[in-house]
Amino acid sequence: MELLYEDLAKKNGSQLFHIEKDITTESIPNMQMELKEIFQQLAEDSSWVFEDLTQKDTSYATHGFHKYPAKFIPQLARRCIEENTNSNDVVCDPFMGCGTTLIESLISGRKAVGVDINPVAYLISKVKTTPINPKKLKIEMDKVLSDLNVYFESNNKQKTLSNVEILPRILTNERIDYWFPNKKLREDLSIILGRIDTIKDKDIRDFCLCAFSNILKNASIWLMKSIKPTRDLNKKIDSPMNLFSRQIKKMIRGNETYWNVLPTNVKSNLKNYLNLKKADARNLPAEDNSLSLIVTSPPYVTSYEYADLHQLTALWFGYTQSVGEFREGFIGSVHKKEFDHNGIKSKLAKQEIEDLGKKSKKEAEAVKNYFFEMQQCFEEMYRVLKPEGRACIVIGNTELRKVPMLNAEVFVEIMLNLGFKMHKIIKRRIPSKVLPQTRDSKTGRFSATSNSDRLAYAYEYILIMEKL
Ligand SMILES: C[S@@+](CC[C@H](N)C(=O)[O-])C[C@H]1O[C@@H](n2cnc3c(N)ncnc32)[C@H](O)[C@@H]1O
Repeated sequence: MELLYEDLAKKNGSQLFHIEKDITTESIPNMQMELKEIFQQLAEDSSWVFEDLTQKDTSYATHGFHKYPAKFIPQLARRCIEENTNSNDVVCDPFMGCGTTLIESLISGRKAVGVDINPVAYLISKVKTTPINPKKLKIEMDKVLSDLNVYFESNNKQKTLSNVEILPRILTNERIDYWFPNKKLREDLSIILGRIDTIKDKDIRDFCLCAFSNILKNASIWLMKSIKPTRDLNKKIDSPMNLFSRQIKKMIRGNETYWNVLPTNVKSNLKNYLNLKKADARNLPAEDNSLSLIVTSPPYVTSYEYADLHQLTALWFGYTQSVGEFREGFIGSVHKKEFDHNGIKSKLAKQEIEDLGKKSKKEAEAVKNYFFEMQQCFEEMYRVLKPEGRACIVIGNTELRKVPMLNAEVFVEIMLNLGFKMHKIIKRRIPSKVLPQTRDSKTGRFSATSNSDRLAYAYEYILIMEKL
């Protein structure tokens, strides 16, 4: 019989639902079996599906500024925040990605702390959470766009309307030539970047860099919708100026909405409400026992290679010279050196690693690293949360080489062993995924065929764990 978590907790006599400070999880026999049963008996909670939302709803305000793989919907983050905190409490996302949790925290009058190892994520999150006075933005953007139009259309390249000198930012890197083989397109992009460099106001300059970053995939021969870097040699590419100008206009509208919905006290004192860093989730910029809530969706193992996916921006902005170097520190990557550790506090994880090891040693090693590194993140979450503070972890289960990866169950087991208790587990259907889908292992695109070795499920879990 399937039950919602509350009913399950009421009905079930298991100690797992009633862990108190003086009960250690080692004293609970068959904990792994019980955990598996809890997840198996759990019914979908339809109130968390948000089925009727349109793309317009989920990209309101600044949420639609930049594409980002595996971002969650703002309405989900908002509900976690509103149900678990009060105004002025501090909410943190240690894997902030493009900043969804942070925007929703600020709009609902909470303080926001966010980190991500990816400098591209930092830039996007900074721009999306920093409101700009719409009038000021409009004046500056009119100048930038008209200067660029004059530059591209006139023969006299030096004369622009606002009389600034545009020095194209030319980059020599073979990876840029690989993704942008058309020389004219590369030059146009260098000119746009050169004009952005002349903007004095840092927030407006970053706003433009975010717009520039978002058009790079469209302006290159990157195979769109592919989650693995793949070239599309027959791609029709619009001019960078058209792409940039459309992107800026869309972002101007989003900024105005954000400006209007942000509470005045947050807007006028943003420094006091927002703390963002490019940093590792294992080293959060927060004191012990200081945060009320964590709302996050962690990376998955061998799923998205965030460093690879953001390489165009990283190359253009000089964050790195090579993709290999850029991958350092990302959790969930398969590109890791082997190292030995046996400290994973989950028997379920150890069993999965052993089963996977029979099919692929390399992938088993990646999964081992992943669970160990996620455990370090949970330890850090425990450190920074206040007693009774909660962590909402959004995670789905997967399958690698036909071996089930019960990420949700493993995370709960690890967190229980670290001193969290289960507050609530929510099972939600992901409305865009109808059935378990397979991924084409070459491009990573979802496909209907069943001969793939990777599987993504139509459900995910929100694990709400509480620090004892
Ligand atoms: C699933 S995404 C988060 C998406 C986010 N919820 C949103 O709505 O945009 C996971 C993020 O974890 C980040 N990440 C990977 N390893 C990390 C680490 N060691 N420390 C911090 N962030 C990391 C990736 O860069 C990626 O942005």
